[in-house]
Amino acid sequence: MSNKQNIETLSWVEEECFARSRLRMIDQTLLPVQLKQIDCRTIETVWEAIKMLRVRGAPAIGIAAAYGVCIGLQPLFTDGNIPDEETFFAKLYESVRYLAASRPTAVNLFWALDRMKELAESYRGKKSVTELADLLLAEAKAIHEEDRRICRAIGRYGAELVKDGASLLTHCNAGGLATADYGTALAVFFAAQEAGKKIHVFADETRPLLQGARLTAWELLQHGIDVTLICDSMAAMVMRQGKIDAVFVGADRITVNGDTANKIGTYSVAAAAKTHGIPFYVAAPVSTFDLTLAEGSLIPIEERDPKEITHSFGTQTAPDGVRVYNPAFDVTPAPFITGIITEFGVISPVNTETIAGTVGKNRGKVTL
Ligand code: MRU
Repeated sequence: MSNKQNIETLSWVEEECFARSRLRMIDQTLLPVQLKQIDCRTIETVWEAIKMLRVRGAPAIGIAAAYGVCIGLQPLFTDGNIPDEETFFAKLYESVRYLAASRPTAVNLFWALDRMKELAESYRGKKSVTELADLLLAEAKAIHEEDRRICRAIGRYGAELVKDGASLLTHCNAGGLATADYGTALAVFFAAQEAGKKIHVFADETRPLLQGARLTAWELLQHGIDVTLICDSMAAMVMRQGKIDAVFVGADRITVNGDTANKIGTYSVAAAAKTHGIPFYVAAPVSTFDLTLAEGSLIPIEERDPKEITHSFGTQTAPDGVRVYNPAFDVTPAPFITGIITEFGVISPVNTETIAGTVGKNRGKVTL
């Protein structure tokens, strides 16, 4: 991502020896207090980083997992070893299965893992295992690089929806930290600002893990965007006060009919926006669409550790023994969504036909 220090959300640290290269990432659990990078040298540390939200946000999770597959294969190539093809593929499948079990909701994770697996399978028997490892690393880098371009395109399309002087609202973090660079929902704000429009953004703090307060507020300040932080429960009132012209959020999985899973609390924001006649936009790449699911109730919703609610950031904030329900995402029904901003344009109205028109047609296309 582009921050003042110009530190990448994710980067591949290349060593001469494939087996010693590693995945570097900003540890997002430390922000905004500390901007620190960590290196993942084993597949277990990549898995842990995804699970614990050191790297988070649907596109960034997909990129991390793609590199994670390469890291999973590294032990086969240590000390100049070259595995046989069967051992190579067994390890590949084991790595893919393992990483797929890190988080269940963001479909970009499975999309990236499938892409890696399918690439290797398409060359099976035609390339040596060393060449296959090189091809997989090149594919992970391609997924990473494509996401940069995709985010810029989303920003360009989204910025057209933003009026000069607009006051906007976002929930969670769909910025450079959640992607290769620049973001999806936040890309809209960055591109609007770059186009010379003056904007103001309300950022929901986003309970329980405060991605809005810790990450979105930080990113917007880094970019010199006028931002006001509010608690999630204030959004409806701020809308009623006439302070919001439009809402922009990201997505973790969008089904065939446009139902959209995103950070818990997004549905409440969408419902409040609908009540107040405020446009509600989702910004997401086509890799976030799951064309195997007919509608939103089929999306697997991650449930996280109750401690995230009872012991927020290490401080006990609820009585011992209380029962907790902690879904990390909710689903906003398609009729609540004014438009979905993709790298191929804005889908509006949002329904099965319009989604098939844009996503079906462009899936697999990467040139923008
Ligand atoms: O639990 P998180 O922080 O991974 O949730 C992230 C979100 O809900 C984002 O809005 C979504 O992944 C889109 S990121 C471009």
